Amino acid sequence: MPRSPRLGVNIDHVATLRNARGGAFPDPVRAALVAIAAGADGITAHLREDRRHIRDDDMARLKREISTPLNFEMAATDEMVAIALDTRPHACCLVPEKRSERTTEGGLNVLDGHDHLKIVTAELARAGVRVSLFIEPGLGAVKAADSIGAPVVELHTGAWCDALTHGESERAAHEFARLKAAATLAADLGLECHAGHGLDFSTAETISALPEIAELNIGHYLIGEAIFIGIRAAIARMRAAMDAGRSRAAG
Ligand code: PXP
Repeated sequence: MPRSPRLGVNIDHVATLRNARGGAFPDPVRAALVAIAAGADGITAHLREDRRHIRDDDMARLKREISTPLNFEMAATDEMVAIALDTRPHACCLVPEKRSERTTEGGLNVLDGHDHLKIVTAELARAGVRVSLFIEPGLGAVKAADSIGAPVVELHTGAWCDALTHGESERAAHEFARLKAAATLAADLGLECHAGHGLDFSTAETISALPEIAELNIGHYLIGEAIFIGIRAAIARMRAAMDAGRSRAAG
């Protein structure tokens, strides 16, 4: 069977729960360590401008305490770039950020933001950080990401997952076709292709069938499932779903 995508576990919402009470529990770094022991290939954390979940010292502790790659999700602002250069994570995933949004609502505006993103990508790359750009699954966005010079794109799966959640099968088929075409183009251009946002067991299995997908980053659903079955079991089921999807691709 071809290698399954890597599983990056996003632990933001362990911090959301901690912050609801303003104390130290549950500890997102402990969740990261348990996730790694359960088979996560990497840990993702998003330091937002408003620090609504992950905080600066969480990021520093993650860098110190985890043994797998740390993927630092961030907006391409001067403040975040300075923190990333100080932290030196394995990777940075650049995302758009709006203060009022509940979650990252769309991909980066890689056309209008092209020149700024190129400068930030080069600066992080010089520090040895692998940069990925979180983009809409459109061919224009993939081409722009390539010209920005990032080695990795992460395709936003939110619209596809949303269409499935609402039983809109035609829109879901259209969104999946866009993801497939974007993944193919990314691979043709020599970009590593990741995907994430809104994935659950079923959608993770389906998208793992696309052979170009090298990594999935999954948070909200996994942390939610952990309430019912525990984080270890949730990660084991996610891995099994991804393996099943990838082996279907091979067959
Ligand atoms: N990838 C990126 C770039 C994201 O912004 C997020 C959400 O923080 C995710 C993946 C994970 O999305 P979810 O929490 O819906 O699984």
